[in-house]
Amino acid sequence: MLRRLHHDQPESFAFTKANQAWAEAQISKYPEGRQASAIIPLLWRAQEQEGWLSRPAIEGVADMLGLAHIRALEVASFYFMFQMQPVGSVAHIQICGTTSCMICGAEDLIGVCKEKIAANPHQISEDGKLSWEEVECLGACANAPMAQIGKDYYEDLTAERFGEMLDELRAGKVPVPGPQNGRYASEPLSGLTSLTEYDSGKTKYNASVQLATDIGDTVKRIDGTEVPLIAPWRDKGANHAPGTSKVKASAPAPVEAKPAPVPKEPAKKAAPKAKAAAPAAQKQPEMLKEAREGGADNLKMIKGVGPKLEAMLHGMGVFHFDQIASWGAEEVAWADDNLEGFKGRVSRDDWVGQAKKLAAGETTDFAKKVKKGGVYE
Ligand code: FES
Repeated sequence: MLRRLHHDQPESFAFTKANQAWAEAQISKYPEGRQASAIIPLLWRAQEQEGWLSRPAIEGVADMLGLAHIRALEVASFYFMFQMQPVGSVAHIQICGTTSCMICGAEDLIGVCKEKIAANPHQISEDGKLSWEEVECLGACANAPMAQIGKDYYEDLTAERFGEMLDELRAGKVPVPGPQNGRYASEPLSGLTSLTEYDSGKTKYNASVQLATDIGDTVKRIDGTEVPLIAPWRDKGANHAPGTSKVKASAPAPVEAKPAPVPKEPAKKAAPKAKAAAPAAQKQPEMLKEAREGGADNLKMIKGVGPKLEAMLHGMGVFHFDQIASWGAEEVAWADDNLEGFKGRVSRDDWVGQAKKLAAGETTDFAKKVKKGGVYE
């Protein structure tokens, strides 16, 4: 399957209020300038909410993180856990088709999918409720054949039981995840041969299934209200109610939870969204029209500045270490926000600290390497 943006896109995306607060809490886990690290949890949450990742969702997440849209699209299109097209409104079924599952009956399960859902993978069933695909090993080979539905694994499947499960899902029921043949977990099919006395604290289901049934969010869309938002690193020990976040992010205004949309209209260009809010007040640094007499400093001696960024800096009017060394927080914020494709680099690599040393005639380990010719041609 080609992993690219779906031809039919919704006009907009917004996290629910609770998911917005959750997403902002994830971003706050990372140090200033490293917010991009939250890309996967945020994309995943967007998918949990909508069922799949639309272009507005990918771009909305990129805006929250101050990333170029293409960077978020690269992540979304690389990982198969991200669905790039609409899925069934109730569930998307992922059948493992790798060796153990294949020899234990995965092909029969795929046959059931073709019969009860749709003839082709990623095709939504006529009633709009289900879709399916074949995936690579999901790491539950001891319980082959198996399928992942939502967050949960359904294991030790037979074609008959799997067909029943699809009927249950269609009827609005959620089959209990885990082994479907009576096994507790992945103990031998013939029964335990060791630790036979051990049942201290044993729950009704194995730990994964117990948690899934306790939370009850197996196949439902996640709107963020399932569990309280806990972000103790933000305010000591405080549990944040949704909407009390202190992070300023630029995602579209939250909306109330809604069913996952399956766009019917032809693709329309997403409405332009507000750019990422600046993390701090910004001020454009003083620029020069050209390098002073004696020529520009070798800005590549600043760790984080490569030939491309150096050319970009020259184009902006930055030629000398002392220029960068003089930047305060507002100038850094401006530069962080205006280096297209390199947002956040200035603070991330502490250009100002490095430039101060270099402007004062000192050196850095990185500058020594550049001088030796060990970094750039
Ligand atoms: S082969 Fe199917 S889970 Fe590993």
